[in-house]
Amino acid sequence: MSSNRLKVKNNKRAGLMPNKPNTTRGSALGRRTGEWVARLAKLIQSRKAHVGIIGLGYVGLPLAVELAKAGLRVTGIDIDAEKVKAINSGRSYIQDVPSADVARLVREGRLVATEDFSALAELDTVSICVPTPLRKTKDPDVSMIMSAMKEVARHLHAGMLIVLESTTYPGTTEEMVRPEVERQGLSVGREVFLAFSPERVDPGNPTYHTKNTPKIIGGCTPTCTELAVSLYALAVDRVIPVSSSQTAEMVKLLENTFRAINIGLANEVAIMCDRLGVNVWEVIDAAATKPFGFMPFYPGPGLGGHCIPIDPLYLSWKLKTLDYNARFIQLASEINTQMPHYVVDKIAAALNDRRQSINGAGILIVGVSYKRDVEDLRESPALDIIRLLRQRGATVTYTDPYNAELRIESPQGESILRSVALPEGLAKQDCIVIVTDHRAFNYQQIVDHSSLVLDTRNATRAITRGREKVIML
Ligand SMILES: NC(=O)c1ccc[n+]([C@@H]2O[C@H](COP(=O)([O-])OP(=O)(O)OC[C@H]3O[C@@H](n4cnc5c(N)ncnc54)[C@H](O)[C@@H]3O)[C@@H](O)[C@H]2O)c1
Repeated sequence: MSSNRLKVKNNKRAGLMPNKPNTTRGSALGRRTGEWVARLAKLIQSRKAHVGIIGLGYVGLPLAVELAKAGLRVTGIDIDAEKVKAINSGRSYIQDVPSADVARLVREGRLVATEDFSALAELDTVSICVPTPLRKTKDPDVSMIMSAMKEVARHLHAGMLIVLESTTYPGTTEEMVRPEVERQGLSVGREVFLAFSPERVDPGNPTYHTKNTPKIIGGCTPTCTELAVSLYALAVDRVIPVSSSQTAEMVKLLENTFRAINIGLANEVAIMCDRLGVNVWEVIDAAATKPFGFMPFYPGPGLGGHCIPIDPLYLSWKLKTLDYNARFIQLASEINTQMPHYVVDKIAAALNDRRQSINGAGILIVGVSYKRDVEDLRESPALDIIRLLRQRGATVTYTDPYNAELRIESPQGESILRSVALPEGLAKQDCIVIVTDHRAFNYQQIVDHSSLVLDTRNATRAITRGREKVIML
């Protein structure tokens, strides 16, 4: 710990109590303002800043690795002992982060992980990448941001930059995080620097990853923005400053709301095309030939992942507190959450045409992750579809190369399913449902060995042999 840092405890020792205006302190601050900025800017520019990441998941680990690759010393902090152990032994648990990179950075002393939050006292910057789920009532749950911030506050010191990355509602940085900092008697923009920078990582995307996805940054003050931009510019190809933390928070929510609403539209178009007897996939692909003014979105069995089903509800919740009803979000959410039910109804109708019922049928789900070629199961519609089919009396099995085991919660308790091998798993099934179109599947083999296939992803688009057995969403 460098000696010239003003630690909170030193403030207290000097009689500078938090939240109490103190004219002596005020004038001293005035003299010191430039000093803390210049010091941190110099540490960042010379890549000597010791940077920290709280939360080493899908967002935090790739960011930690990029910052370490940029030559900075990185300490990752996580409450999950398994993750900490994995990183320190040079092993990655995130598909998009190669273990070889983690191992090399750990060996070179540029990346270390810990469960001990007192490491914060040594850090010049800290980026917070903890989850922001929904409560059972579908309201935002920012408790993990707040518990991470409590730890930051305990070890806060002047000259520190804090960047919140977790997706959250506009105003969180100013209304929830900033007061935690100021309660410690340190001034934002003068002694401590605070910004919001949304992560845009798209797990499994072979083209865009943390380094080449432009990063938005909005600070609580222009100085906060500048310092955060200078840090991220070391590791990310393009950094885009915006005028405030609230703007940056809103940018992220616009991006994800845009997706949720357009997927909702595609899902409703699928339902309408079904009524009309038109193939929705053909309609969308033909519309997408228009070189301007149209962007294709595709229907599917329902939304999944930690972002699209959740983030728009952060925005609508915030707007509700301002007496505004975010109608597009509500409508899209309604349509998207009904899609697993729609899939199950399609299965019921297809079985009915064969004088069969879901009750007593053997149904194999192909792919259970929330999207193609990733292992992530969070909010996956496959889980809802399995639950609904079991409720109606089906015997459900599944196959997924990324998930050997699947835990299904139900009112009767938890059960564990195990992935079956193909093509053996296809035998004697009454219906095969393609829920996640992993590239590893052999779709011709699936159709060849089945009597009925419901394809919710257009994964069988190229298949002609046995086409009569395939029903599309
Ligand atoms: N996954 C994505 O594709 C994605 C994309 C963009 C933005 N985001 C946003 O980024 C944030 C993090 O998402 P994620 O997917 O990385 O989540 P994750 O669950 O993969 O990782 C979060 C990590 O934080 C740790 N953690 C939880 N509480 C903690 C605490 N108090 N202190 C320290 N560590 C703690 C967990 O153990 C976990 O390792 C969320 O707000 C999410 O909305 C996610």
